[in-house]
Amino acid sequence: MTNDLSPIDRAKYIAARRSCDYVQSGMRVGLGTGSTAAWMVRCLGEMVREEGLDIVGVPTSTRTADLARQVGVPVVSLDEAKWLDVTIDGADEFDENLNLIKGGGGALLQEKIVATASDRMVVIADAAKEVRALGAFPLPVETVPFGWQTTKALVEETLVNMDVLGRESTLRMNDDVPFVTDEGNYIIDLHLHRIGNPRQLALVLNQIPGVVENGLFIDICDAVVIGHSDGRVEVR
Ligand code: 5RP
Repeated sequence: MTNDLSPIDRAKYIAARRSCDYVQSGMRVGLGTGSTAAWMVRCLGEMVREEGLDIVGVPTSTRTADLARQVGVPVVSLDEAKWLDVTIDGADEFDENLNLIKGGGGALLQEKIVATASDRMVVIADAAKEVRALGAFPLPVETVPFGWQTTKALVEETLVNMDVLGRESTLRMNDDVPFVTDEGNYIIDLHLHRIGNPRQLALVLNQIPGVVENGLFIDICDAVVIGHSDGRVEVR
C-alpha cells in the first residue's frame, strides 16, 4: 500500500498507522484534520471493518467527518461524546516540549477544543515537523470576520512587544476570496519566523477582541509519534 507513496507521505502513513495502537474498543476518539490525520482515519476505518474495533469518533472538521463516514468510523458530535479517551491529530510543527503549531489546514479551533476535551492527545508527524523553536511555519490565528482588518492591525501592534523575529501578517485566501473556517471565521497567518515565548504569545493573542483562537497548542500534546520515510517510528 505504501509503495506508491512519496517519502514524506510514507513517513506520515507510518506515524498514522502506529498511532492506531493507542486506540482500543470502547474508546471515544478525537479525529484530527490534515493529510497525516487522514491516514489515521483510514487505518481506524480498516480496523472497524476488518477487526471489529468498536469506537466512536469525534471529527475536528467537516472534511474529516466526511472521510470517517466514508471509511466506516461511526461519528458523533463532541457534545454527544462529552469527553474523549484520546485525540490523534497532525501538526505543522512541534518542539522538544511537545508544544505545537497547528492550523495549516484551517481547523485549529475545533482541533483545540477536541484535544482539550481528551484524556490524551497524540500527535502524528513526519520527522520534518520537529523544530528547535516554533515559528518558521506561519502561526494561524482564527478571527471573526467582523472588523478583521482592525483585528489584524491590533495583532500586529501586539507583536511589537513579543519575542518574535517577524511581524508580518496575511489574511488566508482561497482563490480570490478569504478562506472561511468550519466555524465561519477567517484566518490571519502570522509570519513570525521564530517564537521566543510561545506560552506568552498564545495568552496575549487570545486577549485581543476579534481573535477566536490561535494555533499554538501549549501543554496539550502528550506524545508525538514521528514517522521516517525509511520506515522507522519514534515516540516522544
Ligand atoms: C489542520 C492541522 C493539521 O494537522 C496540520 O496542518 C498538519 O497537516 P498535514 O498532516 O497535512 O501535514 O493543524 O488544521
